[in-house]
Amino acid sequence: MSAQSVPQRLQDTIDVMPPSSVAGAQPLGAEGTSLAFAGISDGTARGRVALVTGGNRGIGLEICRQLAEAGIQVLLSGRSAEATTEAARQLASEGLAVEAVVIDVTDPRSIQAAADGIEQRHGRLDILINNAAIRVEPYGRSPSQQPLSLWHQTFATNLFGVVAVTQAMLPLLRRAPAARIVNVSSLLASMGTHSDPASYAYSDMFKSLPAYSASKSALNAWTVHLAYELRETAIKVNAVHPGYTKTAMNDGAGELEPRQGAWTSVRMALLGEEGPTGQYVHMGRQIPW
Ligand SMILES: NC(=O)c1ccc[n+]([C@@H]2O[C@H](COP(=O)([O-])OP(=O)(O)OC[C@H]3O[C@@H](n4cnc5c(N)ncnc54)[C@H](OP(=O)(O)O)[C@@H]3O)[C@@H](O)[C@H]2O)c1
Repeated sequence: MSAQSVPQRLQDTIDVMPPSSVAGAQPLGAEGTSLAFAGISDGTARGRVALVTGGNRGIGLEICRQLAEAGIQVLLSGRSAEATTEAARQLASEGLAVEAVVIDVTDPRSIQAAADGIEQRHGRLDILINNAAIRVEPYGRSPSQQPLSLWHQTFATNLFGVVAVTQAMLPLLRRAPAARIVNVSSLLASMGTHSDPASYAYSDMFKSLPAYSASKSALNAWTVHLAYELRETAIKVNAVHPGYTKTAMNDGAGELEPRQGAWTSVRMALLGEEGPTGQYVHMGRQIPW
């Protein structure tokens, strides 16, 4: 398969991607963004099996679509059986290889049941995209006014849910020849960005989400720890910032369409063997922690 055989809709997405606008972003590896196309352009993505959490809507749904367009068997997971089945049915009706899997990332039984089902049906997992997350803090409060209950709720999904899903799926990921784990973080995880008076995060609006931001900072820390543990294996683990994307999480506000917000996760899921691990990435560039 040649570089020309990138599926047309994916190519359309690539063509409209804006460059990273994050201050201090650095090129990702010597070959830059071309690393990301290894799986698509050489055909090796075909036949891989990918699990995406929170795949029923928003950025997760677009991640599922783009991975399936690259020839990957996608396991679209969500916490609502109805919404998950409907989203998978929608993509399958477009001719894409997508199955529904119910996972509530805060429910250990649903995670284990999913891992058992994937083992039975596929025997391994090549890609895990930990995309599910919540933003439950209302805008407009100062950081100290957000109640502790919202911190617990946020960390249960955005951090403990990721760790639980990853621990359950790791045996299946180890069976794949070169698995990829993508943790969908946020620029709000970045201490550098939060401390920079020139940044949009240095504002009342984005300082009113302390639990969300801290949960993503902790997710970045988990990413670095897991990448260290897996450093001698072929498994790569990276955190991504999708970009400020028009989804329900932002009440529809944002700069990117969901298909653009999906792309950083998709390219990190398709990294070649020379790609990085333990990095924090947006639009093919490393961004400051
Ligand atoms: N949008 C942005 O500008 C932006 C910026 C930076 C980072 N991000 C990150 O990008 C990822 C996707 O966000 P989005 O904007 O697409 O948000 P979204 O539209 O609100 O979608 C969130 C997804 O997570 C799922 N989810 C929530 N709790 C869950 C649980 N306990 N178990 C399983 N699934 C659960 C939701 O399922 P339900 O439908 O059942 O609620 C939904 O599918 C998140 O990690 C977010 O933090 C987004």
